[in-house]
Amino acid sequence: MLNVVVLVSGGGTNLQAIIDGVEKGTITNTKIAGVISNNKNAYALTRAENHKIPGVCISPKTFASREEFNEKFLETVDGLKPDLIVLAGFLVVIPPAMIEKYRNRIINIHPSLIPSFCGTGYYGLKVHEAALVRGVRVVGATVHFVDEGTDTGPIILQKAVEVEEGDTPEILQRRVMEQAEWKILPEAVDLIANGKVIVEDNRVKIL
Ligand code: GRF
Repeated sequence: MLNVVVLVSGGGTNLQAIIDGVEKGTITNTKIAGVISNNKNAYALTRAENHKIPGVCISPKTFASREEFNEKFLETVDGLKPDLIVLAGFLVVIPPAMIEKYRNRIINIHPSLIPSFCGTGYYGLKVHEAALVRGVRVVGATVHFVDEGTDTGPIILQKAVEVEEGDTPEILQRRVMEQAEWKILPEAVDLIANGKVIVEDNRVKIL
């Protein structure tokens, strides 16, 4: 049984996709052990509560230093005994010690086809604004392992989405969520839970 901890900061629609997958059985061999947010008002915490999943709020803002937060944050994550940590719209920098300890056991969903529109400053609507400004015809989402860089870890799954005439950043964001994010993130969790994902030479093989 894969023990999964989901880290969130906002609405939690990707968390909901994982919860639904586990409950419907499209994600097997998986238990969501807990949800951690840096934002006490994150609706993602309400989603967890609605499904009787333990929710914890821990924010860097309530600590004297980032080092103190990082230490308590890692302790909190460790306490849930995760086999896999899922970043689902989590907006806090992951401490290097956590990346080291959970090497290739932390995954992130990014709302673009990496290496396009990713890296520092590319998050949320900014990703879709940049795609529309550039005039790309195809966007999408990527699930990747988290390493020390920003959106630079080994890519697990990607799914493309068409840009349509008249798209605004908000419309495009929603389509990428519906057609890509909410599909490939649960799929990635299920693949990992069933031992079908390996990393060789910093590249992912799906068995
Ligand atoms: C998603 O667009 C995801 O790609 C990005 O942050 C957003 C989180 O949305 N990393 P939600 O909280 O899962 O609804």
